[in-house]
Amino acid sequence: MKFIEVESALKKKTGQVSIRGWIYRIRKMKDKIFIVLRDSSDIVQCVIKKPHLIILADKLLIESSIEISGKIYADKRAPNGYEVEVDKLNIVHAAEDFPIGKDQSIEFLADNRHLWLRSRKMIAIMKIRSTVFGAIHEFFRKEGFYEYQSPIFQSMQCEGGSTLFEVKYFGKPVYLAQTWQLFAEPAVQALEKIYTLSPSFRAEKSKTSRHLTEYWHGEMEVGWNTFEELQDYAENLIKFIVKEVLKKNKKELGILKRDVKKLEPTVKNKFVRMTYSEVLVVLEKKAKMKIQWGKDLRTVEEDKLSSLYDVPIIVTHYPKCVKAFYMREDPNDSKVVEGFDVIGPEGYGELIGASQREESIEKLKKNLKSIGEDPKKYEFYFDTRKYGSIPHGGFGMGVERVISWICGLDNIKDAIAFPRTMLRHMP
Ligand code: 4AD
Ligand code: MG
Repeated sequence: MKFIEVESALKKKTGQVSIRGWIYRIRKMKDKIFIVLRDSSDIVQCVIKKPHLIILADKLLIESSIEISGKIYADKRAPNGYEVEVDKLNIVHAAEDFPIGKDQSIEFLADNRHLWLRSRKMIAIMKIRSTVFGAIHEFFRKEGFYEYQSPIFQSMQCEGGSTLFEVKYFGKPVYLAQTWQLFAEPAVQALEKIYTLSPSFRAEKSKTSRHLTEYWHGEMEVGWNTFEELQDYAENLIKFIVKEVLKKNKKELGILKRDVKKLEPTVKNKFVRMTYSEVLVVLEKKAKMKIQWGKDLRTVEEDKLSSLYDVPIIVTHYPKCVKAFYMREDPNDSKVVEGFDVIGPEGYGELIGASQREESIEKLKKNLKSIGEDPKKYEFYFDTRKYGSIPHGGFGMGVERVISWICGLDNIKDAIAFPRTMLRHMP
């Protein structure tokens, strides 16, 4: 008996099949039992009519694991349009009463996350997530980037002291990585074009639908580039990811009831590119939102901006005072930096944070002092500016933010199997 996937059985349409998986639904009637069998590929309805098999199946509860052989045929009434009439049934494991039923609270599902992973929704999201990860690797590799890894234990901050996770390292404090950046920049002088896909950690005290404390970070760093080229990489990466998901995950997007028409402009059209100052003008004109120059864009403002377009928006040249110490000062205007955020469509917020890197050690030291950091900790980083310094830049993409947007999720927590937030680290 050679088992095939449910999806292959459905494609086969007719004839004898052997399939195995878990009982997704079971309906017991007097003279037959309907089972909807789920495996990782799909679901199919099975009907048991043989009396000795009915006796066997009668005690089964959902999520029991079983093996089935039988004839498959078209049946319009069945989900997916096919049914298997069972002539062999083997119970691999008779499950206990599954705790998850219909209409359970979000908290209950979170407490039972290890079991909720089997839901059709989570399976669909995890498959899309797998495509997204594959696409990130493929994109950078075809662009000639090397995959490079940075340490997770780090002795200094890069993205602000307030979100650092401190851990004891043989009695001394170190921090979990917020980004690979300070360890990526030195490698640019060795490999020139590098990327990584790795967890980053932020002690976010905010309980928003966009923040995790542990998230996956797709980061790249490139040498000799221009600021425009950096924007092109970001735009092309996002386009490639969405294109791959649209190509490979039609079924999953359907299960999630995602309106794919909303994703298509991202693949087909150019992203909007505008400066921070232009954003202020647009928001005032189109949304009567007045923002004082020099204030960072808040969530409400990003959301309003994103509602005006159907593609991601690349916002460049933010005021220096709201951005990180390493962002390169614009040579034409010292008040702004050569950095950008990519704001996702449909109110999904900042997908990417990027910049050219400041090359002047003096400016870097000044910026660090202004945020209360001791430049001495960053001596190794300044060395990248001492020995063959070159123009370079890079960005970080929040992978769960991208998945959340592509899947149309209400909350970023569903974009990862076991989300970590301020209020949850179990299971
Ligand atoms: O904008 P951020 O803080 O930029 C950096 O870390 C740079 N050092 C990256 C680089 O240039 N190599 O973070 C990058 C992205 C954000 O745009 C956002 O999408 C995501 O990481 N992100 C989060 N995603 C989920 N939960 C959080 N708490 C996040 N914080 C940032
Ligand atoms: Mg940012």
